[in-house]
Amino acid sequence: MLTEDQKKYFDTEGFLKLPGFFSAQACSEMRDWAHGQVESLDGAALKSVFSTLNQTRSTDAYFLESGDQVRFFLEEDALDADGALTVAPERAVNKIGHAQHDLAPTVSNFCRTPQMAAVAEDLGLKTPHLLQSMLIFKQPHIGGEVVCHQDATFLYTEPVSVIGFWVALETATVENGCLYALPGGHKMGLKSRFRRTGDGSVTMDTLDPRPWPEGGYDDPYVPLEAEVGTLVVLHGLLPHKSAPNRSDRSRLAFTLHVVEGEAAYPQDNWLIRPQGMPPRGFEVPPAT
Ligand code: FE2
Repeated sequence: MLTEDQKKYFDTEGFLKLPGFFSAQACSEMRDWAHGQVESLDGAALKSVFSTLNQTRSTDAYFLESGDQVRFFLEEDALDADGALTVAPERAVNKIGHAQHDLAPTVSNFCRTPQMAAVAEDLGLKTPHLLQSMLIFKQPHIGGEVVCHQDATFLYTEPVSVIGFWVALETATVENGCLYALPGGHKMGLKSRFRRTGDGSVTMDTLDPRPWPEGGYDDPYVPLEAEVGTLVVLHGLLPHKSAPNRSDRSRLAFTLHVVEGEAAYPQDNWLIRPQGMPPRGFEVPPAT
């Protein structure tokens, strides 16, 4: 699937951009699925999501128990100080996560393709485990910033193996909050680990206190602008981030995080699948 030059580029830079990887039709079906999910939240369900998220302690549980669910998370600016919505409900959702790739056939079919499996294999995954997916809306005007991070901080294996598959379902530009990456930054080592503490909470361990290189959204960081259908593959140690979206256009993206099934997966990772729902590979399950 990937050429030797593409594999070499990924090894050197820590990312790879593949325009036109997904068809316009496939992306359109995913947009419809994402918007349909948000629109199908009835008033009562929305209220429960919003009131749940108004309580910090419940927010932790709502997030920590979402590894085998399809759940809705809000943009920080979607609520005012009194907890009331500042925008229409369909404009309030920051993301949907984190198991729709196993629970929703549309999402499973989108990401479980021979082409995706081939990219994963070409980048060294022997037994890929599709662990986590997200639909990230990056809403107009209020789409929040995602600060610089490495995906291995949140999905840690020994050795580090996570690869991020990021797909533009809408055009992503510097105006509406495209990804930014630090080329070659995957060689700097892991900076931190986000893990469960055992008392129902989570913590961030600092492994390397040196700050990220300065530069904000300029050199040495580079924007990864992407047309609809572009796949961006990210090494699990690559520092990346995205700016707030202050434009009139949303920036819907799909992400899938895949780890090596043969690597050790510490049980203090935030995302723990229940016994009956182990992570699966790229094989499409038989229709039921
Ligand atoms: Fe990320």
